[in-house]
Amino acid sequence: MTSSTSLLGAALPAPAADLLASITAHGGPARAAAPHRLPDDVTTRRTSAAALAAALAANAAAWTDLVEYQAHSRWTHLLDPATAAAALDPALHDDLAAAQIWLLSWMPQQGTPLHDHGGSAGAFAVVSGALTELTVTDRGDGGVRDSEAALTAGRVRPFGPHHVHQVTNTGTVPAVSVHVYEPRLTVMNTYRIAGCGLLQTGSERAGVDW
Ligand SMILES: [Fe+2]
Repeated sequence: MTSSTSLLGAALPAPAADLLASITAHGGPARAAAPHRLPDDVTTRRTSAAALAAALAANAAAWTDLVEYQAHSRWTHLLDPATAAAALDPALHDDLAAAQIWLLSWMPQQGTPLHDHGGSAGAFAVVSGALTELTVTDRGDGGVRDSEAALTAGRVRPFGPHHVHQVTNTGTVPAVSVHVYEPRLTVMNTYRIAGCGLLQTGSERAGVDW
């Protein structure tokens, strides 16, 4: 990691705080199947990667000192489970055990190539600044459909195991986001749109390429 300047404010993004309050009040969204046995604790609430991302964004003050900014590329940091746990309500710790958390910072114009997550599902939350997401989906007839979304601070973006997207900071100020993967991220394949379909251009593996 390069030297850095902390630009992330301590104030919590209101939309993320609102979502966290909603999760707390309603016990979190339903999940199809728990990846592990939950303890017999009536206060335990099941939640999703989106709920974890929202909760971590709402309590960004707990980890904001870790954030760095790099001039040459976006910055990434694997958040250790203990730090993540300290930032979360204990009711979310069982869900955290099944997840992997990454922190990212993006200077203006920094972004990813078009990529998938190797079969991991998850969610990411924009904590400060804004990101633009280009999503490419299989149209089912050999072609693809693309759509673009502006994700401002407080927005939480869940995604499934087949999600292909490109994320870029198209704004004029740095952005910070928190990403949750279930199961942990092991492979990311990169793509480009060729003709009317997606062409794989590469593959990056955890422990080898990042
Ligand atoms: Fe991604």
